[in-house]
Amino acid sequence: MAVLHLLAIVAFHLLIISEAKDSDFIYKEFTNPKRDTFVYGTFPKDFAWGVATASYQIEGAWDADGKGPSIWDTFTHNGRSHKKQNADVACDSYNKYEEDIAMMKKLGVSHYRFSLSWPRILPKGFANEVNREGIEYYKKLLDALHKANIEPMVTLYHWDLPQVLQDMGGWENEMMANYFAAYADLCFQAFGEQVKLWITFNEPTIFSLFGYELGTDAPGLPHNGYGAYRVGHTVIKAHAKAWHLYDQKYRKSQGGKISIVLHGNWFEPKNPDSEFDRAVAEKASYVELGWFANPIFGDGDYPAIMKDMIANNSRIQQLSTSRLPEFTEDDKRMIEGTFDFFGLNHYTTNLVAHKPTVSEHFASFFMEFNGEMSQDKESWPEPAGSPWLYPVPWGLRKLLNHIKQTYGDVPIYITENGFSEGEGPLNTKDTARINYYKAYINEALKAYLIDSVNLKGYFAWSLMDNFEWRSGYSERFGLYHVDFEDPERPRTPRESANVYAKIIKNNGFPVQAGTDHTEL
Ligand SMILES: *[C@@H]1O[C@H](CO)[C@@H](O)[C@H](O)[C@H]1NC(C)=O
Repeated sequence: MAVLHLLAIVAFHLLIISEAKDSDFIYKEFTNPKRDTFVYGTFPKDFAWGVATASYQIEGAWDADGKGPSIWDTFTHNGRSHKKQNADVACDSYNKYEEDIAMMKKLGVSHYRFSLSWPRILPKGFANEVNREGIEYYKKLLDALHKANIEPMVTLYHWDLPQVLQDMGGWENEMMANYFAAYADLCFQAFGEQVKLWITFNEPTIFSLFGYELGTDAPGLPHNGYGAYRVGHTVIKAHAKAWHLYDQKYRKSQGGKISIVLHGNWFEPKNPDSEFDRAVAEKASYVELGWFANPIFGDGDYPAIMKDMIANNSRIQQLSTSRLPEFTEDDKRMIEGTFDFFGLNHYTTNLVAHKPTVSEHFASFFMEFNGEMSQDKESWPEPAGSPWLYPVPWGLRKLLNHIKQTYGDVPIYITENGFSEGEGPLNTKDTARINYYKAYINEALKAYLIDSVNLKGYFAWSLMDNFEWRSGYSERFGLYHVDFEDPERPRTPRESANVYAKIIKNNGFPVQAGTDHTEL
């Protein structure tokens, strides 16, 4: 192993020294030999290769067999998503999960990351009224996965809160930490024999900010400047409670691992020579990821820079206390260290420039930073079908190194990474997505081989096109195309599915005589 590492590193440096050819780069926009040269090599032997999905985005069957409504059912039925679309049927994976698994077998993945629908299991939210048919559905899915030799990674909460719990305040209600722990307890008990990798929450920053700060996602509450911080505070405690519950009650008999999945962009200073831009970019990284990472992977508390920033801004707004809630010493001790690995969802990079934005009169998370975010529209590659998604592969390697430097040598799973295209006729030749996967997986390889980041696995988002939240079916992230006009919801592989299958089979990009990554 060590020898292989060394060879890969030597090979990489030789590549840099010898003159770089066009074929050494994936994107013509990124050709800095030291940073962007394609490297050859493979991931560790037991590397997890997977695809990821989420219950509301694929299952459909929104009111079948005793399922209760979630906040996303309410939100979409109120016409709040793109073209008033909803996921009442979505990919119909409630009925077509065997087809999904057959697709995974073709890809050759070792792992499948999916989420449980809380209101399918507990239609009334609380754990004293269990919907047996909901439990049966996930047991069948888990059995079928094991039969196919695919290891599940199961997310307890991927945004579809039971509506009845939102009616009691949702994540802004502190009691939710207890309700979530009871739901988690039930799931460990029901599925723990079949599940060895658990995720408590998916991307808490995103559902806090879009659901309870901007209100553009369910439950649609524009509680700017306050709501997301209250939500985050409860979610962190809910996560910690579930982690301890698993640790104390189930770990010994079930032998699994449990952690959280955080969303992380990379933030690059717009003008690298500007001290101000550099400081704001650093603040953005420490706050976007650190809001949740610092309590859990650090010292049990929010990052100092975040506490200072919000306390200062609250003072400017004539408030007597900070808008960011405080943890007690007991909270901090309960929260610190509640992880078994780091789950990272990463898609893109932003430029950050200094700009005074704090207002005396208007509180907003997005204005706390005295900074402005942008993308380099002139010199970065074409964005995806999602306007925020520019391919900037080197940002992933920088972020992985940032995590290692900030939170220690923690095992990391890249639990989501992927590329969308917009609406339009089926185009199986998805070259832009192929380039994205090759380039990003190659940066992950550099982080592993050259920077010794403790990388354990990679999950592509997503197995197939699905319901992309407020964007409905207008952003397509699938390795497989899904026809949402056809009641059968037929799935068709795109070329990227073949490319991803080949990367998995090779466990990366092995050095072979005459190999050219462009031929992959
Ligand atoms: C908060 O204000 C203090 C005092 O004005 C200042 O020294 C500090 O840099 C500020 N912190 C942040 C993160 O803005």
